[in-house]
Amino acid sequence: MNTVSLPITTDVLKAADAIVNDHLCAIPTETVYGLAANARSEKAVSRVFAAKNRPADHPLIVHVASYADVNEWICEIPSWAEKLAIQYWPGPLTLVGKKSDQVLDLVTAGQDTVAVRVPAHPVASQLLNELKSRSVKGLVAPSANRFGHVSPTNANHVVDDLGDYLLENGDLILDGGSSTVGLESTIVLVTKKNPVILRPGSITNDGIELVTGLEVLEKTKNEPRVSGSLDSHYSPIAKVLLVNENEMPNSSDAGFIGLSSIDVPNKLTVLLAADNLEIYASGLYQALRHGDALGLSTIYAVLPTGFGLATAIRDRLTRAAD
Ligand code: TXA
Ligand code: MG
Repeated sequence: MNTVSLPITTDVLKAADAIVNDHLCAIPTETVYGLAANARSEKAVSRVFAAKNRPADHPLIVHVASYADVNEWICEIPSWAEKLAIQYWPGPLTLVGKKSDQVLDLVTAGQDTVAVRVPAHPVASQLLNELKSRSVKGLVAPSANRFGHVSPTNANHVVDDLGDYLLENGDLILDGGSSTVGLESTIVLVTKKNPVILRPGSITNDGIELVTGLEVLEKTKNEPRVSGSLDSHYSPIAKVLLVNENEMPNSSDAGFIGLSSIDVPNKLTVLLAADNLEIYASGLYQALRHGDALGLSTIYAVLPTGFGLATAIRDRLTRAAD
């Protein structure tokens, strides 16, 4: 737990000043909080990798104010991908396309593609528009957690994870309340004839097929790297065990995560009993972190069934359990 007092602010102009001066600023988005820096500043982007302890071969997502700004980063967008952008931006969708020449190698980890998204959170949107007026055309913003840990969905989570790794004189945390979606964006590769989902999220295969009129293809081993797709990721300190609802022991040292329709043995600490999938998604990371704050040794999670958002929840919990 961090002991340094880092400036948490709600002042978007102060956050813009920090970014312009090559400092880091954690920002709220509707998915999770991101650790933002000017995507054109080698110095600032290097500090993002250092603060997160993120290996250099894991590329970052560039966040822009609107679809009109994407050309600065992606040089070829097929018409079906444009349809996705028009339908879902601003929102929890990331497009990975062929990168333009100006994109730093540090951002793409040397790959010839770059990931871009337009966040919907009003505070992120205000910040990106303010920065645009000051000639900053995009922000890298990986989730604002230490590499491999659970993503943050509020400003306090960022302090807990990165407080010791941000600098007191200049770095900031911009507080925009709790993230409403709670799971990272859906990542779609747009360099092929058909969309390929690199990371499932709240924008679903069905939605993508409906908007593009194209079949969504499975990703293959050769697809670009997605760090959230490493087997072990999103991990709390407690051991996460995936169980059937009738398999949970009545242990006082353990927690439960699942739907509210499930009967939970009375000694388990209920970390999340969600009435629906949206609540499951938005409360999942908070629940994992809460289990650690209580010092529980084990968290029993019952996976939701079905498609759409359930697929994304299963993806994250399966990796948290590895
Ligand atoms: O919802 C989100 O996407 C959040 C918020 C803050 O915007 N950001 C986020 O960033 O989840 P991060 O760095 O934790 O995850 C970004 C993912 C990584 O898995 C990375 O490998 C993948 O995007 N990625 C970035 N650039 C890529 C590229 N060129 N090709 C394939 N995957 C890429
Ligand atoms: Mg992440």
